[in-house]
Amino acid sequence: MTQDGPHYTQDAATPTGPTARRELRETNANLFSAVLDAMTDGVMVVDDKVRLVVTNRALRETLLLPPGSHGQQLSEVLHEAEVVAAFAAVLAGSGPKQLNIQYKGLTERSLDVRVLPLPDHAYWGHRALGIVRDVTEARSVEQLLRDFIANASHELRTPVTAILGYAEVLAEAPPTDAQQLAQFHDTVYRHAQRLDTLLRQLLDLNRLETGNWLLHQEDLQLRTQLVEIADQQRDAAAAAGLSVLVTVPPRLRAWLDPSALAVVVGNLLQNAIKYSKPGGEPVRIVASRADPSQVRISVIDRGIGMAESEQTRMFERFYRVDKGRSRRMGGVGLGLSIVQNLVQTLGGRIEMVSEPGEGSTFSVILPTRRRTV
Ligand SMILES: Nc1ncnc2c1ncn2[C@@H]1O[C@H](COP(=O)(O)OP(=O)(O)OP(=O)(O)O)[C@@H](O)[C@H]1O
Ligand SMILES: [Mg+2]
Repeated sequence: MTQDGPHYTQDAATPTGPTARRELRETNANLFSAVLDAMTDGVMVVDDKVRLVVTNRALRETLLLPPGSHGQQLSEVLHEAEVVAAFAAVLAGSGPKQLNIQYKGLTERSLDVRVLPLPDHAYWGHRALGIVRDVTEARSVEQLLRDFIANASHELRTPVTAILGYAEVLAEAPPTDAQQLAQFHDTVYRHAQRLDTLLRQLLDLNRLETGNWLLHQEDLQLRTQLVEIADQQRDAAAAAGLSVLVTVPPRLRAWLDPSALAVVVGNLLQNAIKYSKPGGEPVRIVASRADPSQVRISVIDRGIGMAESEQTRMFERFYRVDKGRSRRMGGVGLGLSIVQNLVQTLGGRIEMVSEPGEGSTFSVILPTRRRTV
């Protein structure tokens, strides 16, 4: 690569003796290599026989080029016919080419490749330059955003359509039967509640992701807090014929943010109730000290459980194993994403064990020391 030095402006101070000129050439070539290797985009130069003559470090790493690729035909080291064809076309006189390829390296990468002709030169003749940019992360962020908007609008549409439909009927031809009227109101109310939950969850996620969820630690007696969280869901549990048992040593204290704790345990408990068989075994909340600086809080159900393939996905936004079942229960699939995000914000971690038909245990392990911010 060292013979591929770029052009340099000669100024008055440029040495003229042969040794001094050679030294200057070497210095320039070293500088050229250092600059190329510091670039995050991949760079390659191909000669008029479509042989690889210059590469930088980013290119070799991205394309996993074997050592000794220099001087070889591009088609021998790179099995991407489109790229080879683009170089051939540019060398044959076409204008610059731009393409995107899915490259199977260690993992599949999305690469933007730009190929352009280099100015002809008396020494090296006709050559083409390729610039390779790894856009995998940028593309996946764009995809996430698109999926998120599609999912969120889909979830918003259902309740909005229902509310609009019922409002029209109530305005144009209200039912005279009191029971039917009450049923209409109830349906509108349920859908409005669903909208409210969804918007609240989206705001929570946003606050977590933008780092705007401010924590206020307090010295809590854990049992009081957890019983209170359980009490808030006793009606829902009773409606499903389930009881909620809380087992916490009375002296267990922890520095935690009570509202963050309520969101984490409340969501896990809501799931435990929703995904239990009606009239089944009680749902349990168990807490204990994991070590001097951490507590472990587990929410245990003997409900429907989950297959291993689902377990890796259920923390994704909007992911539900059984959409129909979750939706009937008023769920949109955001609860566990919020829990996971919040647990991370709290500096803790989450563990789960689940067996289809046997039930699930979700445990959060949270640091409980007072933080000095
Ligand atoms: N305890 C559990 N037992 C069995 N499946 C569960 C349990 N907890 C969660 N799941 C599965 O994981 C999915 C995602 O849970 P998550 O709490 O994120 O969403 P959701 O409960 O469907 O809706 P939301 O919490 O937003 O109201 C659920 O739809 C369900 O399929
Ligand atoms: Mg949930």
